[in-house]
Amino acid sequence: MEAKTIKKIGVLTSGGDAPGMNAAIRAVVRAGFYYNLEMYGIYRGYEGMIQNDIKKLDSKNITHVLERGGTFLKSARSEDFRTAEGRKKAYNNLQNHGIDALVVIGGDGSLTGAHLFYQEYGIPSIGLPGTIDNDLSGTDSTIGFDTACNTAIEAIDKIRDTATSHDRLFFVEVMGRDAGFIAINAGIGSAAAAILIPENKTPIENLVDKLKSRSKAMKTSNIVIVAEGGKSGSAQEIADKVKKFLPYYDIKVTILGHLQRGGAPTSFDRLLASKLGVAAVEGLMQGKYDVMAGMINNKVVFTPIVKAIVDDKAVDEEDLRVANILST
Ligand code: F6P
Repeated sequence: MEAKTIKKIGVLTSGGDAPGMNAAIRAVVRAGFYYNLEMYGIYRGYEGMIQNDIKKLDSKNITHVLERGGTFLKSARSEDFRTAEGRKKAYNNLQNHGIDALVVIGGDGSLTGAHLFYQEYGIPSIGLPGTIDNDLSGTDSTIGFDTACNTAIEAIDKIRDTATSHDRLFFVEVMGRDAGFIAINAGIGSAAAAILIPENKTPIENLVDKLKSRSKAMKTSNIVIVAEGGKSGSAQEIADKVKKFLPYYDIKVTILGHLQRGGAPTSFDRLLASKLGVAAVEGLMQGKYDVMAGMINNKVVFTPIVKAIVDDKAVDEEDLRVANILST
């Protein structure tokens, strides 16, 4: 596509926040300044675009944000942006500010919004993969995934201490709506007895057999990682079913929940967010629109947004095989 001249870029974060979003915003804004562009922060995602919560950014806005979790632009899941009327309001507000390009940082829902908006109004836009779930194609890792996995592992290590002291069986529920990436990573990293992911249905009998064989092997604690939203049920539901088969087990359930979304980003996420932030601005200047900038084999790759959101990223079968070997 022939590149349009871009003078003012708006940047927003949308959907569930992810550690590293601030680092990405900072990189986008810094790169914009480097190329003498005006940079605008759109607050509270698409909601702020509709409500005209848009402010010109200067370098003070992005001082000491790289290392902070959350997103200083705030985030929201906007119902109004799903309507044509909401998107029209948003477009009018961008026009009034003279914003001629967008960088949208978020997960699949947010990038779907960016694609729709581009189709309707043709404003040059680029998406950055910002979600702890890692469920976007076109990038090996999404911004926030590495930090979330580290947070989950740190928490599970603590659960392991008390599980071992009491010879208990713990079911730990991790985030990752409809995607087992956090579960697999945290499960392997914390020596889990089993990992239950939304992509696969694990028959309860198989799980019970595995726990029985581990008990014969004199394992003093067992931790089963359950990804939320799985076909086999929530951690509590699975725990209740297992209890019927193994009544002698002292079973506890912990839901890690939103603590996985917070905290300072890891060095991996800082680097990823920084590189992709610069790539987004340079991509827009080169006429790369309606694409997501991702990192594959340590190289920036631009993937059409429709491909990044539609191609369901499959979990790595090799990871599952390794997890199985290590948990017997
Ligand atoms: O998409 C990120 C995510 O944290 C999912 O893992 C989780 O299912 C969802 O967001 C929770 O969303 P909310 O914070 O709106 O409850």
